[in-house]
Amino acid sequence: MDLGLKGKVAVVTGGSEGIGRAAAHSLGREGVSVVVCARRADVLERAAAEVAEATGAQIVPVQADVTRTEDIERVIQTAVDRFGRLDILVNNAGTSAAMRFEEITDEAWQADLELKLFGAIRATRAAIPHLRKVGGGSIVNLLNLAAKQPGARSYPTSVSRAAGMALMKGLSKELAADNIRVNGINIGLIKSGQNQRQWERIGRPGTLEDYYVERAKQVGIPLGRIGEAEEVGDLITFLCSNRATYITGVSINMDGGTSGVV
Ligand SMILES: NC(=O)c1ccc[n+]([C@@H]2O[C@H](COP(=O)([O-])OP(=O)(O)OC[C@H]3O[C@@H](n4cnc5c(N)ncnc54)[C@H](OP(=O)(O)O)[C@@H]3O)[C@@H](O)[C@H]2O)c1
Repeated sequence: MDLGLKGKVAVVTGGSEGIGRAAAHSLGREGVSVVVCARRADVLERAAAEVAEATGAQIVPVQADVTRTEDIERVIQTAVDRFGRLDILVNNAGTSAAMRFEEITDEAWQADLELKLFGAIRATRAAIPHLRKVGGGSIVNLLNLAAKQPGARSYPTSVSRAAGMALMKGLSKELAADNIRVNGINIGLIKSGQNQRQWERIGRPGTLEDYYVERAKQVGIPLGRIGEAEEVGDLITFLCSNRATYITGVSINMDGGTSGVV
């Protein structure tokens, strides 16, 4: 299947690890030039070099914090300056934040909204004029299953992600006339940097794979395993491709069947 992505240009936020890195890899394999951003320059530069080497694509690292407007504007501008266009924005930067309601301070609520909601708002605002200029494009926002199915102790992330889903849906209608498609992916549990760090923190005996097998059992994932970042990367690439030109305003569960909602 020809995805029709050769020569396109993408920005992937949080592209140094986990799902963002896998998205850069998957897009790069299809001939997309990718600007990736993250805060830790060393991890980012190493990832960009490795993905470029593996795919033969141009992968440009830009150190940036998506909670800072000037940083995210610089990331978008780098893509346009370097490659002359922008076709794809993947709002991926984020981290897990799930606590008991009474434990969460105003500062923690604000930090989560800044990272997950305002990060996507600012990147999208900066990207829209460039997507319009090339006759349309695709925006994919990484969200969490808790946006559709919030549980006890799921905040602040469930609330930030529900706002992200509303943003995605509204934008899909507002930007459709410009041929800009906007979709979301509601992640369940995916192997990634943050889950590896959690395993290291806990200091459980056994390998990381053993931990993933145990977590899949604990959560009761119907497909019986935690997902691979590459599986999400490929879904992102498909949603951005010419094979998905009639898909907009949807948020797809990527959870091995865990969710009780569609
Ligand atoms: N993996 C899962 O099971 C899961 C579940 C639900 C939702 N998600 C969502 O999926 C997305 C990707 O998660 P992941 O598991 O792949 O995470 P990950 O492996 O921890 O990678 C996160 C990436 O985001 C970057 N990042 C974090 N904060 C940033 C900031 N303020 N500015 C710029 N970059 C930032 C990180 O680099 P630096 O730290 O160097 O900045 C890293 O590149 C996140 O939005 C996450 O909330 C993941």
